[in-house]
Amino acid sequence: STLAPFVDSLPIPPVAKPIGMHPHPEQHGRTLPHYRIVQREVRIKVHRDLPPARMWVYGDSFPGPTLEIESGHGATVDWVNQLPARHFLPIDHTLMGADKSLPEVRSVTHLHGGRTPAKSDGYPEEWITPGQTQSCFYPSNQESALLFYHDHTMGINRLNIYAGMTGFAIVRDAHEASLALPGGPYEIPLLFADRLLGKDGQLVYPVAPDGDNPWVPEVFGNSILVNGKLLPYHEVEPRLYRLRLFNGSNGRFYRIALEGKPTLHVIGNDQGLLAAPVETKRIPLAPAERADVLVDFSDFAGKNVKLVSDSFDLMQFRVGAKASTPSHAIPKTLRDRPLPLDEKTAIRTRRLTLDETLDDIQNSMGMLLNKTPWHAPITEKPVLNTTEIWELVNLTEDSHPIHLHLVRFRVLDRRPLDTYGFQMTGEARFTGPAMPPEPLESGWKDTVRTDPGTITRILVPFEGYAGRYVWHCHILEHEDNEMMRPYEVLPG
Ligand code: C2O
Ligand code: CU
Repeated sequence: STLAPFVDSLPIPPVAKPIGMHPHPEQHGRTLPHYRIVQREVRIKVHRDLPPARMWVYGDSFPGPTLEIESGHGATVDWVNQLPARHFLPIDHTLMGADKSLPEVRSVTHLHGGRTPAKSDGYPEEWITPGQTQSCFYPSNQESALLFYHDHTMGINRLNIYAGMTGFAIVRDAHEASLALPGGPYEIPLLFADRLLGKDGQLVYPVAPDGDNPWVPEVFGNSILVNGKLLPYHEVEPRLYRLRLFNGSNGRFYRIALEGKPTLHVIGNDQGLLAAPVETKRIPLAPAERADVLVDFSDFAGKNVKLVSDSFDLMQFRVGAKASTPSHAIPKTLRDRPLPLDEKTAIRTRRLTLDETLDDIQNSMGMLLNKTPWHAPITEKPVLNTTEIWELVNLTEDSHPIHLHLVRFRVLDRRPLDTYGFQMTGEARFTGPAMPPEPLESGWKDTVRTDPGTITRILVPFEGYAGRYVWHCHILEHEDNEMMRPYEVLPG
């Protein structure tokens, strides 16, 4: 395109302000902050030279206001739907949960990565309509981590999120505070989300040629927005910064690096800190994955340096000549003891397939989990406070980021198998050795990349709450078309 790069400054979403402190019966009467966050239609400029784009957001920014949550203290949030009565993106009424008989505009908010009681988790079918409010209690008895909130409405969440319905939520705890990591202006949350922008600067959601069935299996935009801007710049000092990276795209995978490939120090992934920093040049991020990274800009004093993903430019850092405050140091270790990873703690192993259904002429009709549609009875019922191994057998030709609500897990390994043989016999014949997780995915995770023709094994302690949750592919087009299943944690 001919749009000038690096003419807009990077937006930093505002921190959400509580509207009050309220005692909560389930927090032993302790007072906790209460928020009211409104979903509404706004116009936002994604680039200096484009007219403002219509978006649906939380608050009035994209990303929405950042929720800062104190671990173990929690918060209550009223999510208020004040969206218009008609959707502006193409609904496919043939999808499960997007029936013509239902209201067109619906929303339900989920805190991704939150250890949340089921009734506040945002079950996809428990949506609200314009004028209604969803009240949630987030106890947040969990470690410091970068979470995010987003719409989760059955059959249309890919459209609602594409329209802008997502924001950061950061859990903080005392252990993280003891590490004295860069904070305030030296900590920068970055949301990557690609969009297809029309010549008029409006968001375009592509449709399949069949008008009655506009669902498409994947969306790749012509513009990668960073915190809602196309190719923004950000002024930094020549010192250590903490970047909180989040892939908020519907389906795009990234490989994030700085121009010239200087060392990045990864200190955390989806669910918090690694045991020790991991040095790397490039960070792969599947949809919904996060990375917590320390970058030393002092090597670039007085220069500009671009953040890139493969051959795409994402944004530019303009590094000043002098730091205004002394820099921080990179900690040598991040945890006192190694993260637990003992397969023997698992009381049960489940083998679950990721399937692609083909029609007579080998066209994809969509994806399923364990060959089971959403509405079939619940088949996965782990018991609270037990640990299981889930073996995710990817029989499709794509990588799928698989996410489980409520829990955190560790990646055990990935191992290639003969998928044709598996489909014929149900037995796994491995075609290569098991590969350990990449060092930068060695912490607690909530979303894991499963590669084609591979069994990905995860070790999952089911902690927190009994109740009904969901697990699904986080490619939003897949999730909206049956690549999602309920599961239930049974009381111990
Ligand atoms: Cu990020 Cu079920 O979602
Ligand atoms: Cu998928």
